[in-house]
Amino acid sequence: MDEYAFVNRANWESRVDHHVASNDYGVQRFVDEPARLSDVVTFDRSRLGDISGKEVVHLQCHIGTDTLSLARLGARVTGLDFSPKALAAARSLAAACEQPVRYVESELYEAPAVLGTNRFDLVYTGVGALCWLPDIKRWASVVAALLRPGGRLFIRETHPMLWALDDPRPDSLLAVEYPYFEVAGGTRFSEAISYVEHEGEISHPETIGFNHGLGEIITALMRVGMELTAFEEHDSVPYRALGDQMEDIGGGEFRLRDRPERVAASYTLQAVKH
Ligand SMILES: C[S@@+](CC[C@H](N)C(=O)[O-])C[C@H]1O[C@@H](n2cnc3c(N)ncnc32)[C@H](O)[C@@H]1O
Repeated sequence: MDEYAFVNRANWESRVDHHVASNDYGVQRFVDEPARLSDVVTFDRSRLGDISGKEVVHLQCHIGTDTLSLARLGARVTGLDFSPKALAAARSLAAACEQPVRYVESELYEAPAVLGTNRFDLVYTGVGALCWLPDIKRWASVVAALLRPGGRLFIRETHPMLWALDDPRPDSLLAVEYPYFEVAGGTRFSEAISYVEHEGEISHPETIGFNHGLGEIITALMRVGMELTAFEEHDSVPYRALGDQMEDIGGGEFRLRDRPERVAASYTLQAVKH
């Protein structure tokens, strides 16, 4: 396993218990409320349209709250992630909700070898997924390989401009600190606290992250025969990315408190395979 995957998998394994226990993920609410959808999928729903009966793969599915939500919209869903602990939590949630969902353990770039090619109607991914992948061209090849001809990619992801910004500063200025473009080797971070409220610290705080500019993402998709069908930038993102500089605007979304029109915080991109 490459170093980035080894380091990042240890980090993700160490976040799972904190995420499952957190109010932000609210896992028990999915069991108590059979029609509940995650805030992320609720945000996506009008753009997703009717996915009932569709064969869907959710890449980097984590503990499965979004995956379960896609299944609750009637799709036949496979969730893929490289973290065994995240998948165990996802399987246990699906079982408690009596919702059939298939979960598969795999590194992202191995997905076509593990799941097969030309077989999904929809590849769904996003919100903290692309930043763990060193090569956006290889990611686009994986997406295209998984989709059947006519199949669709749906991604809502943190905007690369937001990821390039420095952590909140005492003077509240927004400063560009990290790469916007893809950089070989990525950027090393160490953060003992995850993006949900939790007790204590995570045991493996080290990560290796990768940004990819919008042009790099779109070009990578076009080069593997995907046609862009929708692209929107949003001023909000579903986590408090810039600490107290962001305000809760409801629906699980956070936006810059002061002049939010300055920063694109997330985007939704859709593309179809020809
Ligand atoms: C931020 S989470 C995705 C979150 C999802 N949007 C949610 O909130 O439930 C990122 C996920 O990507 C997975 N991941 C990171 N790098 C990966 C890789 N190279 N291959 C497969 N999964 C990976 C992690 O295990 C983690 O579950």
